[in-house]
Amino acid sequence: MSTIPGITLNNGVVIPQLGFGVWQVPDQEASAAVRTAIETGYRSIDTAAIYENETGTGLGIKQAGVPREELFLTTKLWNSGTRDWSGPAGREAVLREFDASLAKLGTDYLDLYLIHWPRPMHGSYANVWSALEELLASGRTKAIGVSNFGQAELTHLLETSSVVPALNQVELHPYFPQNELRAFHAEHGIATEAWSPLGQGGDLLSEPALAKIAAKHGRTVAQVVLRWHLQNGGIAIPKSVTPSRIRENLEVTGFELDAADLAEIASVATGKRIGPDPTTFDWN
Ligand SMILES: NC(=O)c1ccc[n+]([C@@H]2O[C@H](COP(=O)([O-])OP(=O)(O)OC[C@H]3O[C@@H](n4cnc5c(N)ncnc54)[C@H](OP(=O)(O)O)[C@@H]3O)[C@@H](O)[C@H]2O)c1
Repeated sequence: MSTIPGITLNNGVVIPQLGFGVWQVPDQEASAAVRTAIETGYRSIDTAAIYENETGTGLGIKQAGVPREELFLTTKLWNSGTRDWSGPAGREAVLREFDASLAKLGTDYLDLYLIHWPRPMHGSYANVWSALEELLASGRTKAIGVSNFGQAELTHLLETSSVVPALNQVELHPYFPQNELRAFHAEHGIATEAWSPLGQGGDLLSEPALAKIAAKHGRTVAQVVLRWHLQNGGIAIPKSVTPSRIRENLEVTGFELDAADLAEIASVATGKRIGPDPTTFDWN
């Protein structure tokens, strides 16, 4: 069993603070990666329809042999620009996409279903959200949330719908710590989930300031960064297809970053995103 602590979402559902992300893992390789992750101790898996690896992810879950109810499974709706997501047709499309994801994953329920991007220029995310509310009411997903939403879109949902998103999954790492958005989430009972928590394994992992902290604790920089996410009260979903890193990324308990470490980590923030700006992002 994993020693990873859980966070209680605003509807009482508990999510592990550390999960396993599978973006950019090809479908044929996803089963091995997911199986290794679960066998190593991860209990939360994060995929998405657009990753085109839900089938491999579902297979890996089966191969690992851990009872479904011990796992926390997240996937995301690809509300692409090629469809109209407004009105009754938009609602139908959401329900169809949800069914398709479940079929590929080989499960009859999700723990968390997310709207992948708000695409605010189309004005349809509130309609999509109301379809997710229906799915929640039906019990086919235990929680619903959003991804890449900013304060403007969250405020709109808070004002116009009845279910407060359980979490918002956003780009977040020491270079781009999202302090303002995290404070907004905390104020409204929305948990914060970090995507690209390791900065996609780039320059962040060779930052001298972080290397110094890692040496002080006898840990790797990746472990220090993941520990920072946990101590911030957030959820992180690092991705790796390398078994030694899959294990390394799970071993983030048993040490504590102190105030000096946290101040040092805060000092590396650049305010620059790696990924696209969600207010303008509109891929099809
Ligand atoms: N909602 C969204 O819009 C959105 C966007 C992006 C990502 N996500 C989710 O967030 C998850 C994680 O984000 P991400 O995949 O972008 O980036 P990430 O987890 O920050 O970094 C993954 C990269 O870091 C490397 N890595 C992992 N552990 C390492 C370690 N201990 N030491 C050195 N390098 C290490 C991996 O290499 P190897 O695999 O080669 O080991 C991979 O290249 C995704 O898989 C996905 O589930 C969501």
